[in-house]
Amino acid sequence: MKVLIINGSPRVNGNSDLLCDAFIRGAEESGNQVEKISLREKEVHSCKACYACFKTGSCVQKDDMAEILQKLEEAKVLVLASPTYFLTMSGQMKVFIDRLLPKWQGLGGKEAYVIVTGHDGKQGLKRNVEDLALILENLGDSVRKTIFGEHVWQKGEVIGTKAMEEAYLAGRNIV
Ligand SMILES: Cc1cc2nc3c(=O)[nH]c(=O)nc-3n(C[C@H](O)[C@H](O)[C@H](O)COP(=O)(O)O)c2cc1C
Repeated sequence: MKVLIINGSPRVNGNSDLLCDAFIRGAEESGNQVEKISLREKEVHSCKACYACFKTGSCVQKDDMAEILQKLEEAKVLVLASPTYFLTMSGQMKVFIDRLLPKWQGLGGKEAYVIVTGHDGKQGLKRNVEDLALILENLGDSVRKTIFGEHVWQKGEVIGTKAMEEAYLAGRNIV
């Protein structure tokens, strides 16, 4: 199956990246075709709320979002990964989500996964997970599993935690 991972962390090789990579390892082992998009490498501008997309189905802004939307439409499995910033998703992730507007009615029916990281425990990361899961459900996707990379701050701290195993197994068990 086509699996698309959207990583909203601005940090290269950070904890979100590592969890995504564990998910990818599992998903590739079980024969899926996986692509990870790191939003930090893409040019995605904020929604301008011009609503032109309601008439034309596409955004007036010419940046990398058109290509990402195309990949989103093709994916059967969608993973949203984000560090927790001030209790919720990163700014990069939120900007990306707002730009789903042109296609938001055509992105349902996917198996979805949520990966979050943060220095807090589960309680502190809960809002981030809930916000991302709610957005996926509103798009019409089914959230299969949420992975909490809790108590991680510096790069690499997630290595050796149970979240890494959970991410790997979630990828491995895509059905
Ligand atoms: C601007 C900013 C805000 C943050 N806010 C929170 C927070 O509210 N709760 C939390 O648990 N961690 C918070 N953190 C810590 C990050 O979530 C944590 O370092 C995480 O591992 C970052 O993911 P990354 O390694 O993929 O970059 C914050 C970090 C930054 C830079």
